[in-house]
Amino acid sequence: MILAGMVIAVPFPALSQAQAPAKSRPTGSAAGSPIPGARVEANLAQLMRGTLFPSSNVIFAAQNVNPADVPQDKDSGTTVNLLASAYGKWTAVENSGLALAEVANVLMLPGRKCSNGLPVPLNNPDWPKFVQELRDAGMAVYKAAQSKNQDNILTAADTMTNACSNCHNKWREKPNLADRCK
Ligand code: HEC
Repeated sequence: MILAGMVIAVPFPALSQAQAPAKSRPTGSAAGSPIPGARVEANLAQLMRGTLFPSSNVIFAAQNVNPADVPQDKDSGTTVNLLASAYGKWTAVENSGLALAEVANVLMLPGRKCSNGLPVPLNNPDWPKFVQELRDAGMAVYKAAQSKNQDNILTAADTMTNACSNCHNKWREKPNLADRCK
């Protein structure tokens, strides 16, 4: 079992171990990607649940509690509460904003499917537009967190909520799963 505490103590060996098995795996479905070695592993719902869901929750939490007031957990190296982690308080909000902006890049990789098997609608001109909104929202959160001002976070969290729902309204909020991503 790899504990986050170990990752903090020895980040580089942990990273190369994590990457080692990937080299022996067959090339995945991001064929034609402009990024050498880039590979799609998750469907869109899995990607959202694994990345945007936890990152946005850190940002939502910062609306209700001043991150500076969150005490560090005793297990700050292993906690799943990022605000109380070794990289906690406002730093956790900064990094969560940056995570949104970076996930925007991954959302543009070719070859990803939605959970119903349809391709992610990369070729619809609204897709890159909504992805850019996410990137801008992430950077707005990053700036707001750097200011350590909760009013600024309220504004940036609103920008983020709009970025999520603009895309969801078009491609996710469907009575039938089969109609997502159409
Ligand atoms: C560019 C479009 C787009 C943006 C931006 C976007 N999403 Fe999504 N999201 C989707 C689509 C489409 C689905 C449905 C994916 C599927 O079913 O495979 C989805 C699914 C999800 C899911 C999983 C829902 C489920 O039914 O399992 C979560 C959680 C989620 N999004 C969170 C977020 C959050 C939080 C944000 C903003 C920080 C966000 N998303 C921004 C398009 C987007």
